[in-house]
Amino acid sequence: MYVDNYLDGGYHVPHLHKGLATVIDNTAYAIETGERWCVQSSPLACAPRPGGDEVTAAVRRGERAFYAWLYPNFMINAYEGVLDTNLVVPLGVDRTEVIFDYYFADGAEDSVARNLASIAVSERIQDEDVAICESVQRGLASRSYDSGRLSVRREAGEHLFHRLLHADLKDGGVPGGPPDLPPAMATAPGEFL
Ligand SMILES: [Fe+2]
Repeated sequence: MYVDNYLDGGYHVPHLHKGLATVIDNTAYAIETGERWCVQSSPLACAPRPGGDEVTAAVRRGERAFYAWLYPNFMINAYEGVLDTNLVVPLGVDRTEVIFDYYFADGAEDSVARNLASIAVSERIQDEDVAICESVQRGLASRSYDSGRLSVRREAGEHLFHRLLHADLKDGGVPGGPPDLPPAMATAPGEFL
């Protein structure tokens, strides 16, 4: 559920992340996929749109936001000067633990307040994601639930995840395989930011 939500191509951003939605251009969301990875990215506004979220804008800077996923359960989220990772650990068919780590380009003492503000914004966004994941998880148990079609334009990453997971579960194997990193991450990690 967590991975599905992550790979929905920004579908849920305007509805769920009202603050974040005022600083990214969701209409220009880009999605690139490889054999076992997906990078979603979006242009960032220099300043929030009128009436937007100044707190989020102050710590979500740069030209683009990057959201990279490596099959099956690892994400890297990068903005200018800040990067966080999400390791998704399945605990059961309806329970997941997500481990977060944060990295900042500037760890100087006078940047601590800003870095903590960045973590607070991240935690608020993640709380919003947890709420929607729990809601969808409850919905899946409903007798009225039925599967639907994925969006060709928005949900290429989600489709890739489903295909890889289906293949691994069908074969009874363990998800994994040789590293297949996005070119930007494999060749120029500095430029990826
Ligand atoms: Fe989200």
